[in-house]
Amino acid sequence: MRVLLLGGGGREHAIAWKLKQSDKLSALYVAPGNAGTDAIAVNVALPLHDFPAIADFMAEKGIDLLVVGPEDPLVAGIRDFLKEDARFADLLIIGPGKAGAILEGSKDFAKQFMMRHGIPTAGYMTVTPETLAAGQEYLSTLQPPYVLKADGLAAGKGVLILNDLREAQQELALMLSGKFGTASARVVIEEYLAGIEISVFAITDGKDYKILGSAKDYKRIGEGDSGLNTGGMGAVSPVPFADETFNRKVEERIIRPTIEGLRADGIDYCGFLFFGLMNKGGEPFVIEYNVRMGDPETEVVLPRLKTDFIDLLVAAASGRLSEVSLALDERFCTTVVVVAGGYPEAYEKGNPISGLERVEGSVVFHAGTCSRENAVVTNGGRVLAVSSFGQTLHEALQQSYENISRIDFKDLYFRRDIGRDLFKYHE
Ligand code: AMP
Ligand code: GLY
Repeated sequence: MRVLLLGGGGREHAIAWKLKQSDKLSALYVAPGNAGTDAIAVNVALPLHDFPAIADFMAEKGIDLLVVGPEDPLVAGIRDFLKEDARFADLLIIGPGKAGAILEGSKDFAKQFMMRHGIPTAGYMTVTPETLAAGQEYLSTLQPPYVLKADGLAAGKGVLILNDLREAQQELALMLSGKFGTASARVVIEEYLAGIEISVFAITDGKDYKILGSAKDYKRIGEGDSGLNTGGMGAVSPVPFADETFNRKVEERIIRPTIEGLRADGIDYCGFLFFGLMNKGGEPFVIEYNVRMGDPETEVVLPRLKTDFIDLLVAAASGRLSEVSLALDERFCTTVVVVAGGYPEAYEKGNPISGLERVEGSVVFHAGTCSRENAVVTNGGRVLAVSSFGQTLHEALQQSYENISRIDFKDLYFRRDIGRDLFKYHE
């Protein structure tokens, strides 16, 4: 299989690393990639919004399988674009078309979808500039905290959670008048769900699905979940409180109805599905759908996958997922993200990273790195994700932390409390 993978973060390094374990892989290109993918594949400088350039590259290289890492090209319709081109009649693609990607691209669409198919989620109202007064009135019927979500993609920044009613009503007006650009031309007001978050990952060919596992992500920059939101500072898989009963509820009430709902709506969906859930007293509710894998969750979910990854992806992309049996490693996998000082606000780039060769017993997935004159330098806020296995969460985390102590770059920072809130569930 000749594969092109789109993206350049820790998620894509983990996908590339997993692809490399398959003897069915004959060539792997990553666009744009990072220093991690550079070491195991061929990086290509293709802009992810330039579909004609991506298409020409694929035709030239005879690509058999395209794996789309991030959501933007999917929401922008890369699958639909390629499917219209006769050169790609036999191309296999992991990632839904526009009609499916809108599950992530529009929160209002996702809420309507869940309501239509009886999938548990928070009560809501969608507001436009014309219905601002009704939206403010709806807010006054809710208990704090108040949840406001920009309808469209806002680079992970479009959700506000506010304690004060007046402030929420003012923010609603600001969002509708362009606080997040066109993404907040519509705003979803949602009831607040109190509980503990968990993500579940699946892959589907539109008919069948395989559950790749659960993970918990740590989104805040500071220990004890304090400070600004980030892309994710660490993750663990599986999540110890997700016992058999909870997992069964997730599958029966959420995963299966979602796949069946997509079919019933005539949406031909092939790719990953990321269910962002709230566990509220043992009952799962959907907070959001994503149409891709998570980052850094991929760095703990894929290492646990024992099934040949190419077999799995090819089966999913060709509508034969029912023929594959999925095997997962029983152990815990954890990842701790090492970031550049200052992130998620201003931070430096271009600082040399040392000590990578001293890492033992963990896999270092590169996120914001690039190669420069035989050195690896920082090139983003989230720089590395250090993933490890263990019989317990504690053991896996200790391994990640021990290896981080061997790595250095200017002003590096990481959270020392990843997974700590979960120890009580199993140790
Ligand atoms: P989202 O972008 O939809 O994942 O929202 C970002 C974060 O806001 C989530 O990860 C949750 O921590 C929080 N959040 C979103 N919706 C709700 C809700 N209805 N109740 C409580 N927290 C929420
Ligand atoms: N880590 C959360 C996400 O990938 O959306």
